[in-house]
Amino acid sequence: MIEKINTLIKQASGFSASGINDIENFRIYYIGKKGLITTLFQEFKTIAPEERKEIGKKINELKTIVNDKIKTEKFRLLSTKKTEEKKDLSLPGDLLIPGSRHPISLVRNEIVEIFARLGFIISEGPEIEDDEHVFSKLNFTAEHPARDMQDTFFINRKSAEQSEKNDILLRTHTSSVQVRVMENQKPPIRTISPGRVFRNEAISARAHCIFHQIEGLYIDKKVSFADLKQTLLYFSKAMFGEETSIRLRPSYFPFTEPSAEMDVTCKICGGKGCNVCKYTGWLEVLGCGMVDPNVLENCNIDSQVYTGYAFGMGIERIAMLKYHINDLRMYFENDLRFLEQFRYSF
Ligand code: DAH
Repeated sequence: MIEKINTLIKQASGFSASGINDIENFRIYYIGKKGLITTLFQEFKTIAPEERKEIGKKINELKTIVNDKIKTEKFRLLSTKKTEEKKDLSLPGDLLIPGSRHPISLVRNEIVEIFARLGFIISEGPEIEDDEHVFSKLNFTAEHPARDMQDTFFINRKSAEQSEKNDILLRTHTSSVQVRVMENQKPPIRTISPGRVFRNEAISARAHCIFHQIEGLYIDKKVSFADLKQTLLYFSKAMFGEETSIRLRPSYFPFTEPSAEMDVTCKICGGKGCNVCKYTGWLEVLGCGMVDPNVLENCNIDSQVYTGYAFGMGIERIAMLKYHINDLRMYFENDLRFLEQFRYSF
Protein backbone atom coordinates (compact mmCIF):
# COMPACT_ATOMS: atom_id res chain seq x y z
CA MET A 1 0.00 0.00 0.00
CA ILE A 2 2.90 2.35 0.80
CA GLU A 3 4.15 1.92 -2.72
CA LYS A 4 0.78 2.85 -4.11
CA ILE A 5 0.51 5.99 -2.00
CA ASN A 6 4.05 7.06 -2.91
CA THR A 7 3.18 6.84 -6.61
CA LEU A 8 0.06 8.93 -6.01
CA ILE A 9 2.14 11.54 -4.12
CA LYS A 10 4.53 11.77 -7.07
CA GLN A 11 1.65 12.11 -9.50
CA ALA A 12 -0.13 14.81 -7.48
CA SER A 13 3.07 16.81 -6.95
CA GLY A 14 3.72 16.90 -10.69
CA PHE A 15 0.23 18.13 -11.56
CA SER A 16 -0.01 21.26 -13.64
CA ALA A 17 -3.36 22.72 -14.74
CA SER A 18 -3.95 24.41 -18.06
CA GLY A 19 -7.40 25.68 -17.12
CA ILE A 20 -9.68 26.06 -14.14
CA ASN A 21 -11.55 22.85 -15.17
CA ASP A 22 -8.37 20.80 -14.79
CA ILE A 23 -8.13 21.93 -11.19
CA GLU A 24 -11.73 20.93 -10.46
CA ASN A 25 -11.18 17.48 -12.01
CA PHE A 26 -7.98 17.09 -10.03
CA ARG A 27 -9.89 17.94 -6.82
CA ILE A 28 -12.71 15.45 -7.53
CA TYR A 29 -10.24 12.73 -8.50
CA TYR A 30 -8.30 12.95 -5.22
CA ILE A 31 -10.50 14.45 -2.54
CA GLY A 32 -14.02 14.27 -3.97
CA LYS A 33 -16.59 12.25 -1.98
CA LYS A 34 -15.83 9.14 -4.03
CA GLY A 35 -12.23 10.15 -4.69
CA LEU A 36 -8.98 8.25 -4.18
CA ILE A 37 -8.36 9.44 -0.69
CA THR A 38 -11.76 8.23 0.52
CA THR A 39 -10.98 4.81 -0.99
CA LEU A 40 -7.57 4.78 0.67
CA PHE A 41 -9.13 5.49 4.07
CA GLN A 42 -11.55 2.63 3.52
CA GLU A 43 -8.64 0.27 2.74
CA PHE A 44 -6.86 1.67 5.79
CA LYS A 45 -9.48 0.09 8.07
CA THR A 46 -8.52 -3.37 6.85
CA ILE A 47 -4.75 -3.23 7.39
CA ALA A 48 -2.80 -4.65 10.30
CA PRO A 49 -2.65 -2.35 13.39
CA GLU A 50 1.18 -2.17 13.38
CA GLU A 51 1.19 -0.73 9.83
CA ARG A 52 -1.52 1.85 10.50
CA LYS A 53 0.71 4.58 11.94
CA GLU A 54 2.97 4.77 8.91
CA ILE A 55 0.22 4.42 6.34
CA GLY A 56 -2.06 6.94 8.08
CA LYS A 57 0.77 9.48 7.95
CA LYS A 58 1.33 8.84 4.24
CA ILE A 59 -2.36 9.30 3.36
CA ASN A 60 -2.42 12.62 5.25
CA GLU A 61 0.72 13.71 3.45
CA LEU A 62 -0.98 13.02 0.14
CA LYS A 63 -4.06 14.98 1.24
CA THR A 64 -1.96 18.02 2.19
CA ILE A 65 -0.08 17.91 -1.11
CA VAL A 66 -3.34 17.78 -3.07
CA ASN A 67 -4.86 20.71 -1.14
CA ASP A 68 -1.71 22.84 -1.56
CA LYS A 69 -1.58 22.01 -5.25
CA ILE A 70 -5.16 23.18 -5.73
CA LYS A 71 -4.33 26.55 -4.10
CA THR A 72 -1.04 27.15 -5.90
CA GLU A 73 -2.40 26.17 -9.30
CA LYS A 74 -5.41 28.48 -8.87
CA PHE A 75 -3.10 31.35 -7.92
CA ARG A 76 -0.78 30.62 -10.83
CA LEU A 77 -3.62 30.60 -13.34
CA LEU A 78 -5.10 33.84 -12.00
CA SER A 79 -1.79 35.71 -11.97
CA THR A 80 -0.80 34.63 -15.48
CA LYS A 81 -4.19 35.85 -16.63
CA LYS A 82 -3.48 39.26 -15.08
CA THR A 83 -0.08 39.67 -16.69
CA GLU A 84 -1.57 38.75 -20.02
CA GLU A 85 -4.21 41.45 -19.53
CA LYS A 86 -1.48 44.02 -18.78
CA LYS A 87 0.08 43.31 -22.14
CA ASP A 88 -2.98 44.73 -23.92
CA LEU A 89 -1.61 48.14 -24.83
CA SER A 90 -4.93 49.34 -26.19
CA LEU A 91 -6.51 49.36 -22.69
CA PRO A 92 -7.02 52.84 -21.13
CA GLY A 93 -4.55 53.84 -18.37
CA ASP A 94 -5.36 53.58 -14.66
CA LEU A 95 -6.61 56.82 -13.11
CA LEU A 96 -4.05 57.97 -10.56
CA ILE A 97 -5.31 60.51 -8.04
CA PRO A 98 -2.34 62.20 -6.40
CA GLY A 99 -2.27 62.50 -2.61
CA SER A 100 -1.95 65.92 -1.02
CA ARG A 101 0.44 67.40 1.51
CA HIS A 102 -0.97 68.60 4.81
CA PRO A 103 -1.11 72.42 4.99
CA ILE A 104 1.16 72.32 8.06
CA SER A 105 3.82 70.44 6.07
CA LEU A 106 3.43 72.83 3.13
CA VAL A 107 3.93 75.92 5.29
CA ARG A 108 6.72 74.32 7.31
CA ASN A 109 8.59 73.46 4.11
CA GLU A 110 8.10 76.96 2.75
CA ILE A 111 9.43 78.61 5.92
CA VAL A 112 12.41 76.23 6.04
CA GLU A 113 13.16 76.96 2.39
CA ILE A 114 13.08 80.75 2.91
CA PHE A 115 15.50 80.61 5.83
CA ALA A 116 17.72 78.09 4.01
CA ARG A 117 18.36 80.83 1.42
CA LEU A 118 19.88 82.88 4.25
CA GLY A 119 22.11 80.00 5.36
CA PHE A 120 19.98 78.64 8.21
CA ILE A 121 20.21 74.87 8.70
CA ILE A 122 17.64 72.63 10.38
CA SER A 123 18.19 71.28 13.91
CA GLU A 124 15.78 69.02 15.70
CA GLY A 125 15.34 68.11 19.33
CA PRO A 126 13.24 65.67 21.39
CA GLU A 127 9.52 66.20 22.04
CA ILE A 128 9.89 64.58 25.46
CA GLU A 129 12.19 67.03 27.21
CA ASP A 130 13.35 68.00 30.66
CA ASP A 131 12.82 71.12 32.72
CA GLU A 132 16.41 72.22 32.18
CA HIS A 133 16.06 72.56 28.39
CA VAL A 134 12.49 73.86 28.28
CA PHE A 135 12.66 76.26 31.22
CA SER A 136 15.71 76.57 33.52
CA LYS A 137 18.41 77.26 30.96
CA LEU A 138 16.04 79.64 29.14
CA ASN A 139 15.93 81.84 32.22
CA PHE A 140 12.44 80.92 33.43
CA THR A 141 12.24 81.63 37.16
CA ALA A 142 11.17 78.85 39.53
CA GLU A 143 7.76 80.45 40.00
CA HIS A 144 7.06 81.11 36.32
CA PRO A 145 3.43 80.17 35.47
CA ALA A 146 4.51 78.07 32.45
CA ARG A 147 5.92 75.58 34.96
CA ASP A 148 2.43 75.04 36.31
CA MET A 149 0.50 71.82 35.65
CA GLN A 150 -2.16 73.98 34.09
CA ASP A 151 0.11 74.86 31.18
CA THR A 152 2.53 71.97 30.84
CA PHE A 153 2.08 68.21 30.45
CA PHE A 154 4.43 66.58 32.93
CA ILE A 155 5.51 62.99 32.45
CA ASN A 156 7.51 62.60 35.60
CA ARG A 157 7.26 65.42 38.08
CA LYS A 158 9.77 65.42 40.92
CA SER A 159 8.74 66.68 44.33
CA ALA A 160 9.80 70.18 45.38
CA GLU A 161 12.11 68.77 48.09
CA GLN A 162 14.27 66.85 45.62
CA SER A 163 17.42 68.92 45.31
CA GLU A 164 18.25 68.14 41.67
CA LYS A 165 14.80 68.84 40.31
CA ASN A 166 14.66 68.04 36.60
CA ASP A 167 11.10 67.18 35.62
CA ILE A 168 10.40 65.20 32.46
CA LEU A 169 7.74 66.86 30.34
CA LEU A 170 6.41 67.41 26.83
CA ARG A 171 8.12 70.48 25.40
CA THR A 172 5.87 73.53 25.41
CA HIS A 173 7.94 75.35 22.77
CA THR A 174 10.73 74.65 20.29
CA SER A 175 12.99 77.12 22.12
CA SER A 176 14.31 74.02 23.92
CA VAL A 177 16.16 73.11 20.71
CA GLN A 178 18.07 76.43 20.97
CA VAL A 179 19.54 75.22 24.25
CA ARG A 180 20.49 71.82 22.84
CA VAL A 181 22.18 73.41 19.82
CA MET A 182 24.09 75.96 21.92
CA GLU A 183 25.25 73.25 24.34
CA ASN A 184 26.60 71.15 21.49
CA GLN A 185 27.91 73.59 18.91
CA LYS A 186 30.28 76.48 18.84
CA PRO A 187 29.29 79.82 17.25
CA PRO A 188 28.71 80.90 14.57
CA ILE A 189 25.32 79.18 14.84
CA ARG A 190 22.55 79.79 12.34
CA THR A 191 19.71 77.34 12.68
CA ILE A 192 15.97 76.84 12.54
CA SER A 193 14.08 74.15 14.41
CA PRO A 194 10.63 73.08 13.30
CA GLY A 195 8.68 70.72 15.53
CA ARG A 196 5.64 69.70 17.50
CA VAL A 197 4.88 71.27 20.86
CA PHE A 198 2.35 70.49 23.58
CA ARG A 199 0.36 72.62 26.00
CA ASN A 200 -2.31 71.78 28.51
CA GLU A 201 -5.04 73.78 26.78
CA ALA A 202 -8.72 73.08 26.22
CA ILE A 203 -9.29 72.46 22.49
CA SER A 204 -11.17 75.23 20.68
CA ALA A 205 -11.09 77.12 17.38
CA ARG A 206 -8.21 79.26 18.71
CA ALA A 207 -6.27 76.83 20.94
CA HIS A 208 -5.07 73.23 20.77
CA CYS A 209 -3.02 70.99 23.03
CA ILE A 210 -0.73 69.98 20.13
CA PHE A 211 0.61 72.41 17.58
CA HIS A 212 3.77 73.22 15.62
CA GLN A 213 6.42 75.90 15.91
CA ILE A 214 9.57 77.00 14.14
CA GLU A 215 12.37 78.42 16.20
CA GLY A 216 15.20 80.48 14.73
CA LEU A 217 18.60 81.17 16.30
CA TYR A 218 21.62 83.12 15.12
CA ILE A 219 24.72 83.51 17.32
CA ASP A 220 27.96 85.15 16.25
CA LYS A 221 30.20 88.09 17.06
CA LYS A 222 28.45 91.46 16.66
CA VAL A 223 24.94 90.20 15.86
CA SER A 224 22.57 93.11 16.39
CA PHE A 225 18.88 93.87 16.60
CA ALA A 226 19.17 95.43 13.12
CA ASP A 227 20.22 92.00 11.77
CA LEU A 228 17.15 90.47 13.37
CA LYS A 229 14.87 93.10 11.85
CA GLN A 230 16.33 92.70 8.39
CA THR A 231 16.05 88.90 8.50
CA LEU A 232 12.42 89.07 9.62
CA LEU A 233 11.58 91.63 6.94
CA TYR A 234 13.13 89.38 4.28
CA PHE A 235 11.15 86.41 5.61
CA SER A 236 7.86 88.33 5.74
CA LYS A 237 8.16 89.59 2.17
CA ALA A 238 9.04 86.12 0.91
CA MET A 239 6.20 84.51 2.82
CA PHE A 240 3.39 87.04 2.50
CA GLY A 241 4.35 89.05 -0.60
CA GLU A 242 6.76 91.81 -1.62
CA GLU A 243 4.37 94.59 -0.56
CA THR A 244 4.37 93.37 3.09
CA SER A 245 5.68 95.67 5.86
CA ILE A 246 6.51 94.63 9.41
CA ARG A 247 6.34 96.35 12.79
CA LEU A 248 7.97 95.31 16.06
CA ARG A 249 6.21 95.90 19.38
CA PRO A 250 8.13 95.67 22.67
CA SER A 251 7.29 92.48 24.56
CA TYR A 252 8.67 90.13 27.20
CA PHE A 253 10.13 86.62 27.02
CA PRO A 254 12.39 85.25 29.77
CA PHE A 255 15.06 84.18 27.27
CA THR A 256 15.43 87.36 25.17
CA GLU A 257 16.35 90.90 26.11
CA PRO A 258 15.10 93.11 24.55
CA SER A 259 12.09 91.14 23.29
CA ALA A 260 9.50 92.01 20.66
CA GLU A 261 6.46 90.73 18.86
CA MET A 262 6.31 91.12 15.12
CA ASP A 263 3.22 92.03 13.09
CA VAL A 264 2.86 92.04 9.30
CA THR A 265 0.51 94.21 7.28
CA CYS A 266 -2.79 92.44 6.71
CA LYS A 267 -2.67 90.78 3.32
CA ILE A 268 -6.43 90.68 2.99
CA CYS A 269 -7.16 94.40 3.29
CA GLY A 270 -3.63 95.62 2.48
CA GLY A 271 -3.46 97.41 5.85
CA LYS A 272 -6.71 99.33 5.54
CA GLY A 273 -8.53 97.30 8.20
CA CYS A 274 -10.88 94.31 7.94
CA ASN A 275 -12.41 91.67 10.21
CA VAL A 276 -9.39 89.33 9.89
CA CYS A 277 -7.01 91.96 11.30
CA LYS A 278 -9.75 93.27 13.60
CA TYR A 279 -9.59 96.64 11.79
CA THR A 280 -5.99 97.30 12.90
CA GLY A 281 -4.36 96.61 9.52
CA TRP A 282 -1.79 94.36 11.27
CA LEU A 283 -1.51 90.64 12.00
CA GLU A 284 0.62 89.22 14.80
CA VAL A 285 3.05 86.64 13.47
CA LEU A 286 5.92 85.84 15.85
CA GLY A 287 7.96 86.54 19.00
CA CYS A 288 11.62 87.46 18.88
CA GLY A 289 14.50 89.22 20.59
CA MET A 290 18.19 89.29 21.40
CA VAL A 291 19.26 86.13 23.26
CA ASP A 292 19.59 87.02 26.94
CA PRO A 293 23.27 86.88 28.03
CA ASN A 294 22.21 84.57 30.90
CA VAL A 295 20.97 82.03 28.37
CA LEU A 296 24.28 82.17 26.47
CA GLU A 297 26.21 81.64 29.71
CA ASN A 298 23.88 78.77 30.75
CA CYS A 299 24.92 77.05 27.52
CA ASN A 300 28.65 77.79 27.92
CA ILE A 301 28.83 80.53 25.30
CA ASP A 302 30.87 83.58 26.29
CA SER A 303 28.37 86.49 26.36
CA GLN A 304 31.27 88.99 26.33
CA VAL A 305 32.30 87.75 22.89
CA TYR A 306 29.05 86.58 21.30
CA THR A 307 25.56 87.99 20.84
CA GLY A 308 22.62 86.54 19.02
CA TYR A 309 18.98 86.77 18.12
CA ALA A 310 16.13 84.28 18.32
CA PHE A 311 12.59 84.11 17.07
CA GLY A 312 9.73 81.67 17.28
CA MET A 313 6.51 81.33 15.35
CA GLY A 314 3.48 79.03 15.25
CA ILE A 315 3.14 77.17 11.96
CA GLU A 316 -0.65 76.83 12.34
CA ARG A 317 -0.87 80.60 12.73
CA ILE A 318 1.12 81.28 9.55
CA ALA A 319 -0.95 78.68 7.66
CA MET A 320 -4.15 80.30 8.96
CA LEU A 321 -3.04 83.64 7.56
CA LYS A 322 -1.88 82.17 4.30
CA TYR A 323 -4.90 79.96 3.57
CA HIS A 324 -7.55 81.90 5.55
CA ILE A 325 -8.30 78.99 7.87
CA ASN A 326 -10.31 80.14 10.85
CA ASP A 327 -10.50 77.05 13.05
CA LEU A 328 -7.39 75.31 14.44
CA ARG A 329 -9.23 72.02 14.86
CA MET A 330 -9.41 71.57 11.07
CA TYR A 331 -5.69 70.78 11.00
CA PHE A 332 -6.15 67.71 13.16
CA GLU A 333 -9.47 66.23 12.05
CA ASN A 334 -8.26 64.62 8.82
CA ASP A 335 -11.42 65.64 7.00
CA LEU A 336 -10.75 64.88 3.33
CA ARG A 337 -12.94 67.77 2.19
CA PHE A 338 -10.44 70.08 3.93
CA LEU A 339 -7.23 68.22 3.04
CA GLU A 340 -8.07 67.75 -0.64
CA GLN A 341 -8.04 71.49 -1.18
CA PHE A 342 -4.23 71.41 -0.83
CA ARG A 343 -3.79 68.74 -3.52
CA TYR A 344 -2.14 71.02 -6.04
CA SER A 345 -0.16 73.17 -3.60
CA PHE A 346 3.52 72.30 -3.31
N1 DAH B 1 8.95 80.26 22.67
C1 DAH B 1 7.99 81.33 22.48
C2 DAH B 1 6.57 80.79 22.62
O1 DAH B 1 6.38 79.63 22.58
C3 DAH B 1 8.16 81.96 21.14
C4 DAH B 1 9.43 82.75 21.05
C5 DAH B 1 9.43 84.07 21.38
C6 DAH B 1 10.60 82.15 20.65
C7 DAH B 1 10.58 84.82 21.33
C8 DAH B 1 11.77 82.89 20.56
C9 DAH B 1 11.74 84.25 20.92
O2 DAH B 1 12.93 82.39 20.19
O3 DAH B 1 12.88 84.97 20.83
O4 DAH B 1 5.68 81.56 22.74
